[in-house]
Parts: sequence; C-alpha cells; structure tokens
Amino acid sequence: MLDVKTNSLEEFWMPFTDNRGFKQAPRLITGAAGVYMTDHKGGTVIDGSSGLFCSPAGHCHPRIIEAVHAAMQEMTYVSPFGTGHPMSFALAQEVARLTPETINHVFFVNSGSEAIDTALKIAMAYHYARGERRTRFVSRERAYHGVNIGGVSLSGLVNNRRAFPGTMPDVVHMRHTWTEEELFVPGQRATGADRAEDLKRFIDNYGAETIAAVFVEPVAGSTGTLPPPKGYLERLRQICDEYGLLLVFDDVICGFGRVGGNFSADAFGVVPDMITMAKALTNGSIPMGAVAVRDDIYETVTDSAAMGGIELFHGYTYSGHPAACAAGLASLGIYREEGLFARAAEMSPYFEEAILTLADHPMVKDIRTIGMMAGVELHAHEKPGKRGTLAQIEMFWGGLHVKFTGDTGIVAPMFVAERAHIDEIVGKFRKALDTLPQ
Ligand SMILES: Cc1ncc(COP(=O)(O)O)c(C=O)c1O
Repeated sequence: MLDVKTNSLEEFWMPFTDNRGFKQAPRLITGAAGVYMTDHKGGTVIDGSSGLFCSPAGHCHPRIIEAVHAAMQEMTYVSPFGTGHPMSFALAQEVARLTPETINHVFFVNSGSEAIDTALKIAMAYHYARGERRTRFVSRERAYHGVNIGGVSLSGLVNNRRAFPGTMPDVVHMRHTWTEEELFVPGQRATGADRAEDLKRFIDNYGAETIAAVFVEPVAGSTGTLPPPKGYLERLRQICDEYGLLLVFDDVICGFGRVGGNFSADAFGVVPDMITMAKALTNGSIPMGAVAVRDDIYETVTDSAAMGGIELFHGYTYSGHPAACAAGLASLGIYREEGLFARAAEMSPYFEEAILTLADHPMVKDIRTIGMMAGVELHAHEKPGKRGTLAQIEMFWGGLHVKFTGDTGIVAPMFVAERAHIDEIVGKFRKALDTLPQ
C-alpha cells in the first residue's frame, strides 16, 4: 500500500490531472464499496459521478469480483485473432439483446477511445466495401470522443486538441446545441434543434459523397451534460438517411441506462447505425469498450472480402479479454436481474428535483439534467476553470467526489443510490459552494 508520507508520487504521470498541484496535496482513494469510497486520510467520500460515469451498480460488486476471479482461473489470456473463447460470444449476444433490433454485431475494444477509432475505421471500411472512398467526418463543438488521434480529431474541446496539431484532416464540426435562451430547464430543451441544419450545410458545401459518418454524443457528457434539443437527433437522422451518411451515437456515457432506456436510441427514439460504448459495460471494473453495428454494415464489410480471408484488418491484442468479458457478463447480469435501468428511470425525477434546488445558489449559472446525469455549471471566476478546480477539491475534502470539466460539475449518481444518497450528494455540493471564495 502506498504511504503518501514515505512513497514518491513523482514517477506516475497522471492523466488529465494537475500533476504538480496533486503531488503537493494528493487525494488518493484507498478503498471503495457501493456508493462510498475511502480516502487516504480515512475520510468517507460519496461517489457523485459513479467514478467517471462507469459504475451504476456500485463499487466492488461481489458478483463481478467473483466472476472475474473464476474466469481467470480458467484462462488469463486467449488470442482474439483467429481463435476465441466462449465468453466473448456470450457477451456480444448479451450486448446485442440491449441494442436496437437492427444492431446485432459487436466489436470489442478496451476503452471508449478505442471504440471511437474502431467506429471511424468501420465507417470507412463500409463505404470502401460499397466501392466509395469517403474520408470526411462530421463532429460537433464541445464533443468529447476520447483521446486517441481519431477521437482528438473529432474533439470539440479545444484544450484537448491544442497541443496536438497532427490530427486527422477532413473533420468538420457542427455547432453545439447549448443556448442561453433556456436556463435551468430540465430534460430536452426547445431551442437549438435548428443547429442540425449545419449538417445539411456541410453536405451542400463538401458533397455527401465525401462524408463517411456523423459522430454525436446524444447527450454531450464530458462538456457538462447537454441533452439534445427536441427534434435535433431526429433531424440528424433524417439528413443522414437522405444523403447516405452513417450516424454514430457515442454512448460511452449515455449507454446502459444513464439517460433512459438501454441506450440513447431508446431514450430519444432515434436509431443510429453504430453505437460506441465502454465504461458501464463492465461497471467500470475492467477496461472494455465495444462498437455495435447495424447488421448490414457487418454484412457489407464481411461479404466484400474474399472467402477464407480476413474481412476487417483491425483488432486489439486485448479485444474481448477473458477478464473483461467475465466482468461484462456479470455486470449486464446485475443490471438485468436487479432491474437497475428501471430503477434509474424511477429515481431520475427525484434526482432532477434535488439537483435543481441548487439553482438558487448565486454561483450557479445553469443546470441541465437528463436521466441520472446533470451538469451544474458555475459562473467562471477570474479565469475559466479556476472555480471548477477549486470546487472539485473542496467537495472531495467535504466527502463528495464529482467530476468537473472546466466550471461544470457533472453529477451522475449510481443507480443503486437511495434518495438519502442523492440528498447527501446535493447537500455536500451546496456546502462546498458556500465555502468557496465568492
Ligand atoms: C462520449 C465519450 N466517448 C469516448 C470517451 C473515451 O473513453 P475512454 O476514456 O474509455 O477512452 C469518453 C470518456 O469519457 C466519452 O465520454
């Protein structure tokens, strides 16, 4: 066990972290169970963001631990290239049970970022198999699609792109959908749907035949919870259908009941051509992601290759790793048997009401909510992001973990949370705001 007094924190280069600040004043988690974690000073921290939106069933679920342990006793590794093991097929079938009817083929990866790279490649391979060479992609301002070069190219968050000028060319960004016209309105707002017309403008400008796919997070998550305006996703779907573009829903956060239904296709009644997922696929316990694709995309790619040959020259050493598959099977089993998506849907009105009570705080600029997720945006103070960083630290030492992006806290309770836990999260959030410099 690391002892912060005697061990060096220097060697580990922490991701998306103020390394110098953190190492001066570390915040370590040394244990977790259910909705609570323990910090290295012995304090109790309630997890208000399900880790990073990963763990709807709570930390250290015994069934997942046992399933992974049992799988590891049978096999610790199997090459997924040309061989397989039963659990990967079983998990793909379980995922396909949750996806829309037309989407039943599942490619396993190890993260959301890899899911995005994989979806980019499948989109190109699909058009290539149809005899077209489409290289352009459409994304959106404020989008987060992970950190691999594909995802960074799609990124609409400038800080995630600035230091990496060598990204994919030919990516264009639609406007984001947030407007100042409606603040503190829960769920899908009425304004902003017209921004779907940006896609039509790109088609007019570049030609549909150059555009392979459109990537959107149905609810933009990492930027601070931007639910789609009413009619927006429907209009994107309509334009994609009219011009033969693939529509990819990045459900890395939105999937597995977070915003309602199984995936956001259910929540919003719009069916994409591909769904990227990760995080809650294993309840966050083992790294794993997936891309689920429409059946005819799989068939077009596989049928276009010569019989006996590899159809898609893509895959990872750890695609469908036995430990991840065991964790995935156990997690989906828990979600189903404990009815966690239904429980989330039942709890979300209570959560919405509770989180909106923060609207009267003078530091709060807007609150957006959908399902079991909310973005509490603070007025920037001195410079963008400063107040958010201070708030996150204050909350941690006040016993609450919330993920912040810039000045927006993204609250996403676990689906196993009780009303009292939600009250605790909101109460600690408010208390931290009260303590911050005005
Ligand atoms: C919508 C979305 N896509 C992709 C990713 C990247 O996932 P990962 O961090 O597992 O690579 C994230 C991570 O938060 C995400 O929110």
